[in-house]
Amino acid sequence: MNERAKPARHVAIIMDGNGRWAKKHRLPRAIGHQKGAEAVRRLVRALPDSGLEALTLYAFSSENWKRPEGEVDDLMALMRRFLKSDLPDLVANGIRLRIIGDYGALSSDLVVQLDEALARTAEGTAGTLAVALNYGSQQEIARAAAAAAALGDVTAETIEAHLDTAGLPPLDLLIRTSGELRLSNFLLWQAAYAELWFTDTLWPDFTPAHLEQALDAFAGRERRYGGR
Ligand code: IPE
Ligand code: IPE
Ligand code: MG
Repeated sequence: MNERAKPARHVAIIMDGNGRWAKKHRLPRAIGHQKGAEAVRRLVRALPDSGLEALTLYAFSSENWKRPEGEVDDLMALMRRFLKSDLPDLVANGIRLRIIGDYGALSSDLVVQLDEALARTAEGTAGTLAVALNYGSQQEIARAAAAAAALGDVTAETIEAHLDTAGLPPLDLLIRTSGELRLSNFLLWQAAYAELWFTDTLWPDFTPAHLEQALDAFAGRERRYGGR
C-alpha cells in the first residue's frame, strides 16, 4: 500500500546541539541550554498553525543523568522556568501537555509543577505537546511489556497500548538536529515506520521554518510499510 503526501500528524524531535552551540559562540554551556529553551518556546507557539496533532520533544534522557550535577540542575531549572513562563500560553492556545518517561523520579517540586501543568492543559484541543523527561525507550518498552505480561497477553498490540505514547497518533516523522545520526534511546518502537530527517542545524538555531522544511521533505516521501 503506497502512501504519498498524507499530511504528518505526529512529529518528534531529538533536540541536540546546545553544548556545541555554546562552544561555537564561546559561551557557557548553560547559555546553550537557555537558547535551546527559547527554540522550544518558538516551536510550541507555532504548533497550533502547523497542522500537527502532536509534537514530541526529547528534553532529558534517562542517560542524561550521567552529566555533571551542575548541568543536570541547569536543565531542571530551565524546565521549571519554562513551565512557569509558558503554561498560561499553552492553556490560552489550547495545547494539551503530555509527559513521557519516568517523570515521577524527578525532584518532587518539579513533579508537582508538571502534574499541575498536565491538569491545567488537559482540555486542550489544538494539539498535544509531549515532552520526554527522564525518558528511555528501552525502559519504556520493558515497562509496557511487563504490563502486557501481567494481563497474560503479550502481543505487539498490547505492548503498544501500554507505551507512554499510547493515545498519540502514530509517529510520522522523527527529526534530529546537530548532525548526529543516531536515535539515542528515543521512540525506538514508535519509529518502526517513521520517516527520518536529519539536519546539521544546532538546536538553539532551530526555527519553525526548519520544521516547515522537514514537513516539506516528508510530503515528498513514499511510505511503503513493507508493501509495494
Ligand atoms: C541537547 O544538547 C540537550 C540535552 C541533551 C539535554 P546537548 O547538551 O546534548 O549538546 P551537545 O550534543 O553537547 O552539543
Ligand atoms: C539525546 O541527546 C537526548 C536529548 C536530546 C534530550 P544526547 O546528546 O544526550 O545524545 P548522545 O549522548 O549524543 O547520544
Ligand atoms: Mg548532545
